Amino acid sequence: MSVTTGFEVHRARGPFNAAFFSVMGPVIELSLRRHKQRVFAGLPSTVVELGSGVGANLRYLRPGSTLIAIEPNSAMHGRLRAAAERRGVRLDLRDRVAERTGLPDADADAVISSLVLCTVKDPAAVLAEVRRVLRPGGTFRFVEHVAARNGTPTRALQRALRRPWAWTFEGCSCERDLAGLLRGAGFAAVDLEPYRIHGPFIPFNTQIAGVART
Ligand SMILES: C[S@@+](CC[C@H](N)C(=O)[O-])C[C@H]1O[C@@H](n2cnc3c(N)ncnc32)[C@H](O)[C@@H]1O
Repeated sequence: MSVTTGFEVHRARGPFNAAFFSVMGPVIELSLRRHKQRVFAGLPSTVVELGSGVGANLRYLRPGSTLIAIEPNSAMHGRLRAAAERRGVRLDLRDRVAERTGLPDADADAVISSLVLCTVKDPAAVLAEVRRVLRPGGTFRFVEHVAARNGTPTRALQRALRRPWAWTFEGCSCERDLAGLLRGAGFAAVDLEPYRIHGPFIPFNTQIAGVART
């Protein structure tokens, strides 16, 4: 476990997840692209990203932009660096957790995340951190998967697979009400759209994408 971040990179599952997102990233992207294009449109030249993984969102930054990547899983770092170089994005990689980015107050114009609030230990603390680092008028743009409606078959499957899913995907939960959390996090405005994708990973298919403003 890292003393500075409190994040533990598992010897096998850390590299497994890096490989999984390298291989499956393009497939997942097919379902998410439309939503990402909408919420990541017009990003500024410097962007903070929570949980950048192996760089799925670099394509939404203009070449020559700077990405401040908050990514505590060192197994992702090599692929992330290589992807940033390929895309012509300057990478400022921070081995930190999203709950404690170490970034200054009210300094960022935009923070982005995809498929990260499901995995962080404390999503409410992460949203408080996002509000702290954003300038007034800044935006938090997110694409995340969330709990299905109670009583639906997808919700039952999310509950049934809770433990093996979290074990495989390093703490990921498919049962979080992230829309409720975002709306209650104290942003000046939250504009989000719930939608469903039709991929093979059914617990992951209920999603939200949107923009929160400070
Ligand atoms: C499911 S992956 C998604 C990666 C990438 N955003 C994407 O869309 O492909 C979740 C990412 O969040 C990172 N992560 C987990 N806990 C975190 C935390 N507390 N703070 C920041 N990132 C975290 C993981 O290391 C991993 O890279």
